[in-house]
Amino acid sequence: MSNQEKAYKELLEKWKEAVLVASCGGVLHWDQETNMPKGGARHRADQIAFLFGLAHKKATDAKIGELLKEVENSDLTADEFSDSGANIREIKHEYEKSVKVPQELVEEISRTTTIAQGVWVEARKENNFSKFQPHLEKIIKLKRQEADHLGYEKEAYDALLDNYEPGMSTEAIKIIFEGFRQELVDLVHAIADAPKKPDVSILERLYPVDRQKLFSQEAAIAIGYDFTRGRLDIAAHPFTTGLGPGDTRITTRYNPHHFNHAFFGTLHEGGHGIYDQGLPAEHYGTPLAEAVSLGIHESQSRMWENHVGRGRPFWKHFFPRAQQTFPESLGDVKFDDFFFAINDVRPSFIRVEADEVTYNLHIMLRFEIELAFMRGELEVKDLPEVWNKKFTEYFGITPKNDAEGCMQDVHWSSGLVGYFPTYSLGNLYAAQFYARAEEEIKYLDDQFAAGNFSELKKWLNEKIHKHGKRYRAGKLVEVVTGNKLDHKYAMTYLKTKFGELYNL
Ligand code: CO
Repeated sequence: MSNQEKAYKELLEKWKEAVLVASCGGVLHWDQETNMPKGGARHRADQIAFLFGLAHKKATDAKIGELLKEVENSDLTADEFSDSGANIREIKHEYEKSVKVPQELVEEISRTTTIAQGVWVEARKENNFSKFQPHLEKIIKLKRQEADHLGYEKEAYDALLDNYEPGMSTEAIKIIFEGFRQELVDLVHAIADAPKKPDVSILERLYPVDRQKLFSQEAAIAIGYDFTRGRLDIAAHPFTTGLGPGDTRITTRYNPHHFNHAFFGTLHEGGHGIYDQGLPAEHYGTPLAEAVSLGIHESQSRMWENHVGRGRPFWKHFFPRAQQTFPESLGDVKFDDFFFAINDVRPSFIRVEADEVTYNLHIMLRFEIELAFMRGELEVKDLPEVWNKKFTEYFGITPKNDAEGCMQDVHWSSGLVGYFPTYSLGNLYAAQFYARAEEEIKYLDDQFAAGNFSELKKWLNEKIHKHGKRYRAGKLVEVVTGNKLDHKYAMTYLKTKFGELYNL
């Protein structure tokens, strides 16, 4: 073994220690969100802070910097997409970023956002933006400092975006979103003006929780989420956590008076879970066993939730099952009425309740505002006015107050600036991947109608999951689909599906 190979081996061992410690924190976090008694909150916060602090310390150990110097520019990095090339590239990227931001700033951001979240909860309840304003001002100031430490070429926003979507640039997102936005606004307005509307009240009948549980579990199993290596629990804010090989957990929440939340939530988290379960166990502890980015992760959840789960073929198989499971609520409902209801599109104020079409406009609005903050083109005090103006332009409706307007999301009070675009990128990636899958896999619709989803899952395992972080998101899209990321796939998908439903 050469010296460089020895150094590489040691580098991976050190990195794995940090990953292992963080995964222990992940178990505690899962428990906190699903099982922990309320009284444990304070101690749990200490436990989690300790473990993530320890993981951070391990990942920023100066020894890692030394080992990286030894392995850089060697045979190991000659091909950046080889196992060693990708691992070294990504560890170096993470390491350099984490040592650039001074510890005092990290701590100040953490303190500021902890306080800001408490204030945000109250300000939203009281619909009092001026109460939240000074806290958001401080957060924006600190995030600009963070970006300056991280460094960037063109836009401060690039540095923050990189925390969630490594390698993606503000400019690329701007170009894609601007092309996408006008077409979307036109589609949203056309749908809003269409006389044909679904009867969504059929989804608000009684759906007993115990039966919802069995039914969504059946769907999660059908699409390929493996319960021998996972579980499904209840959480107020559903999430997925990949704890390591053989243990990926998903969560959902039940509303006895709405069919959608648990069912589509489970498909969504199931999609995240299938991705984590498909990461190569033999590379655990290295970037090759990690997800590419938040956007790519979201592409997997949205593909199963929307392209598959809100599609006609899927319901050809599942609607009779749904009728058997909920005879009192669905026994008298026609297939087309149910299918239209689960695909209802209408402009609404709250992002997390938005449909497939309007969702992206919620994201674009936030992206434009965040970018203006980071460029210093928008002051926090003007946020409500700018929000409402843009909202009216895009959606054709105006929020009545800031609680259902600019104060609805938890992200900014938590210091998550640069995160929002990953949701829409997820939709764009999903549409482009799915268009490719439809070309490569014959009779996908027929398979779904027969309740067979394994070919699509296998395709995703092969094309996306097994690579871990071998490719960055942009490159992965090119490798899988042969083309650069383009909004035309999402637009074609939305126009075709909703044009048909709404007779446009
Ligand atoms: Co998600």
